[in-house]
Amino acid sequence: MPRRIIIDTDPGQDDAVAILLALASPELEVMAITTVAGNVPQPLVTDNALKIVELAGRGHVPVHRGCERPLLRPLYTAEYVHGPSGIDGADLPDASWPPSPGHGVDVIVEACMASVDDPITLCPIGPLTNVATALVKQPAIVAGIAEIVLMGGGFFEGGNTTPTAEFNIYVDPHAAAIVFDAGVPITMMPLDVTHQALVTPEHIGRFRDLRTPVGDAVAGMLGFYERHDVEKYGIGGAPLHDPCVIAYLIEPDLFSGRRCHVAVETASELTMGMTVVDWWAVGDREPNALVMNEVDADRFLDLVVERLATL
Ligand code: BDR
Ligand code: CA
Repeated sequence: MPRRIIIDTDPGQDDAVAILLALASPELEVMAITTVAGNVPQPLVTDNALKIVELAGRGHVPVHRGCERPLLRPLYTAEYVHGPSGIDGADLPDASWPPSPGHGVDVIVEACMASVDDPITLCPIGPLTNVATALVKQPAIVAGIAEIVLMGGGFFEGGNTTPTAEFNIYVDPHAAAIVFDAGVPITMMPLDVTHQALVTPEHIGRFRDLRTPVGDAVAGMLGFYERHDVEKYGIGGAPLHDPCVIAYLIEPDLFSGRRCHVAVETASELTMGMTVVDWWAVGDREPNALVMNEVDADRFLDLVVERLATL
């Protein structure tokens, strides 16, 4: 039986690749996609998710519009990375079907409440506003969640939005704090691991060589997205952050890490959104997350190319 997942997302070129990877993978059943304001505002993230689902050609996976802004802070977006549309570099037509009815938060609540006997996996790859709101609206959903596998945070690697904070956690640190304190098993893909998962011009060539609409769109998106990171960090490619979440569900052995306690800074403006990882277990709090810090990048990229070739 495929593992049932909900992807909570703010596409984003790397979100788009994560969605495509999930839809291409028979090990996974994407029950729904819920969208959250992040890389770009609503309704753009929802429009982008719809376009990507249609591009994948794997049927009408429902896309539900979720939260419009973080819990307490004003929305901080990342057009400087992803372009004004969020998925610049792909020239995709408008989707031919609309978002599905029902707010993203309600969809998460209802799916989890209906899954207590067979819990589902939540895959947040944007700010954690929807997931936190679902946990606040109905705390009993914890029983219907097998695991939360998320992209967010960083520790030894520092931040990519402030010196100490990664984008997804920085945008809604209060939501992240709720999620890490919820008592749900969490697997965390921080910058420490995603900054090893670099997509290079050679990989982009492999996507282009697929000579399919998916290959063309992904090559275009990653070509655009790569520019920012290569210029900013002087590294040989762009981190394929969000697909790490989906790759872990398909081939967990690609990744390794350690169970740690993770707390989220919500008070100090200087370090707002920092994920404080007790890597050396020097504190007295029980681990609440499996924090990844290594990936076999070659196998990871091969997996992404191989799976997207099937779409
Ligand atoms: C995260 O922030 C977004 O820009 C990416 O989509 C990813 O989810 C990386 O910090
Ligand atoms: Ca994202």
